[in-house]
Amino acid sequence: MEKLIENHNKLKLTKCLPELTSLISRQRELLDNPKGNPLKYTLALNNLPNIVPSYKILNKPTITLGIEEDILAASEDINAAINNIKSNLMELAPWRKGPFELFGITIDSEWKSWLKWDRFIDKISPLKNRRILDIGSSNGYYMFRMAAYNPTMVLGLEPQYAFYFQYLALQKYLNIENIFSLPIPFDEFPAINGYFDTVFCMGVLYHRRSPLDMLKKINELMKKGGELILETLIIESSENEHTCLFPEDRYAKMRNVFFIPTIKVMESWLKRTGFENIKCIDISKTEAHEQRKTEWIQTESLTDFLDPENPAKTVEGYPAPIRAIFSAQVI
Ligand SMILES: C[S@@+](CC[C@H](N)C(=O)[O-])C[C@H]1O[C@@H](n2cnc3c(N)ncnc32)[C@H](O)[C@@H]1O
Repeated sequence: MEKLIENHNKLKLTKCLPELTSLISRQRELLDNPKGNPLKYTLALNNLPNIVPSYKILNKPTITLGIEEDILAASEDINAAINNIKSNLMELAPWRKGPFELFGITIDSEWKSWLKWDRFIDKISPLKNRRILDIGSSNGYYMFRMAAYNPTMVLGLEPQYAFYFQYLALQKYLNIENIFSLPIPFDEFPAINGYFDTVFCMGVLYHRRSPLDMLKKINELMKKGGELILETLIIESSENEHTCLFPEDRYAKMRNVFFIPTIKVMESWLKRTGFENIKCIDISKTEAHEQRKTEWIQTESLTDFLDPENPAKTVEGYPAPIRAIFSAQVI
């Protein structure tokens, strides 16, 4: 977190320095006196040995760092060291996004996150030299993939501590200097208006009670000519249907799902919050080969959320998850 402050001159963040500093010192207070899960995650993070990986691969589906032999620099008992690294990484579960390979240990995450990456990367503006915001960045899988394209900087916002600590564990070894993450929700992020060239907002909008307010704030944070890449759950409909699904209670067992738009509604939301050149660049049904239970998550996964008699429906009887990706510009 503090790296953002240290680099404020280079990153041209001086204007909002007081707000960022107070935000980060509030978070620092929480993290310096952790209780409950944050305490467990802090111990796991601190127990991970200091090892310098002999190489890093960021431009392939599995983000890979180091080989098993790199561990020998930190420990003579390689098996004990592998077990130690694995058990500390397991303490940070559930690992939803990935996969990763650390010194030969594969973290087979719940999602095969490269499938989503491959759906948009060739359809968006090049990321080189851009200032990027990733809202809901989880453990940073996509931020690390972005790093391979030489952006000026990438900043992630991730309020769930398990995922934020996974990011810290990965950064401990990847040590990529222009990637940052803050453990805060988007609402707490200061209004650094006109700053970002590219904003990713993937898998977050349907969790918001007020999706339009969120889109408006995103629009204000962006530079003219900037691009938003937005991914959300959608519902299928006839061509011109301007409706939303608002689940009575849960959707696919998730408690915090509010508005699931049709493509037309999503396009109107983007238009009415100031975006132009709106394109739907992908529509994909979520399938069990992409989201499934592995040893790295203890919770349920997609097949548990669908009606076993009719997997076209969720257990609540709503249409099963379909996700769409949109690109939109600020002109
Ligand atoms: C469904 S996951 C998507 C993760 C990743 N963006 C992706 O597309 O795979 C949603 C993530 O957004 C985070 N999140 C939820 N509400 C948020 C908010 N208000 N601000 C920032 N992140 C949020 C969650 O903690 C979670 O990690």
